[in-house]
Amino acid sequence: MLKPEIEDGQASLADPAFRADVLRGFEIRPRAIPARWFYDRRGSELFEAITDLPEYYPTRAETAILRRIAPEVAKLAGPGRAVVEFGSGSSMKTPLVLAAVAPAAYVPIDISGDFLRESSAALASAFPGLAVLPVEGDFMKPIALPNEIADAPKLGFFPGSTIGNMVPHSSVDLLRAMKASLGEGAMLLIGMDRIKDASILTAAYDDAAGVTAAFNLNLLERINRELGGTIPLDRFRHVARWNDDRARIEMHLEAQSDVDFTIEGHAFSMATGDTVHTENSHKYGLRDARILLRSGGWTPIADWTDEDEQFAVILAEAQPSRLAP
Ligand code: SAH
Ligand code: AVI
Repeated sequence: MLKPEIEDGQASLADPAFRADVLRGFEIRPRAIPARWFYDRRGSELFEAITDLPEYYPTRAETAILRRIAPEVAKLAGPGRAVVEFGSGSSMKTPLVLAAVAPAAYVPIDISGDFLRESSAALASAFPGLAVLPVEGDFMKPIALPNEIADAPKLGFFPGSTIGNMVPHSSVDLLRAMKASLGEGAMLLIGMDRIKDASILTAAYDDAAGVTAAFNLNLLERINRELGGTIPLDRFRHVARWNDDRARIEMHLEAQSDVDFTIEGHAFSMATGDTVHTENSHKYGLRDARILLRSGGWTPIADWTDEDEQFAVILAEAQPSRLAP
């Protein structure tokens, strides 16, 4: 039984969905907590620091691609679309798209509320006259888009390979939900990280400066902060490993000794070497990416990669389902 959220007259400030996912995450085997909970303010700041690391190539590779292809995307998409960005974070790549496509409005969606509002304000001042309409929420759940963009054709923007943080069946669910919410005639510009040498991948997720370790461990700090946890942080270490069978980097937090702790009064134990799985980052080959998009109801119409073929950006359109042999 979970404890009530109001105790001693004090309302818990924690998001009930966070609380439920964490308590369940430590109960199930293997232990696992959804990666979306990384992104409190500190988590969003740490992710930004990751994007500057020498080992973390995806941001640099995708930015270079977007810079090069923006005029072509603009030609294929045409002007006057409302750009809807999923997991917009700092919106650092967005200006490359907005400057090219003559958008009707910009709708950034993110779960990290304060960070979203600050990034949106910065973007609005860089694009005076553009309607910037931020939506705070979990894009894995149905999200109502602002009424102001109801009649505009949409261009979904889903950069960063954030789709890789979902297992394939959830990615397909999300792509289908995006198709339904963006509507007929919508297009989607999506970034997906490529499969490559495992040593490059593991270095990108276990950098020498320890920023990714701090990003991973911040989840435990957040649990202690927001859910009154007593997790001994110094007994956990960051682990990043390539799972070749599933074509994904997995991040885990591994107990370095036997530990006992409580979260909102619930007692948990972990033995030395036990882990909690905190993130998957799936990587996709050229054809894998196309199949994934088609499974989600999107028809790829163009794809591009960087010089070293490390990362891919794909433009797809929502087409009505057709009968197939
Ligand atoms: N698009 C940026 C940021 C990627 S980091 C880039 O390409 O660099 C992933 C972003 O997605 C974070 O800002 C995080 O807060 C957000 N995010 C992760 N899961 C989410 C979810 N389920 N719903 C909404 N936003 C989510
Ligand atoms: C946001 N997401 C696509 C990043 C990734 O590469 O999977 C999050 C991240 N995790 C560790 N480093 C970066």
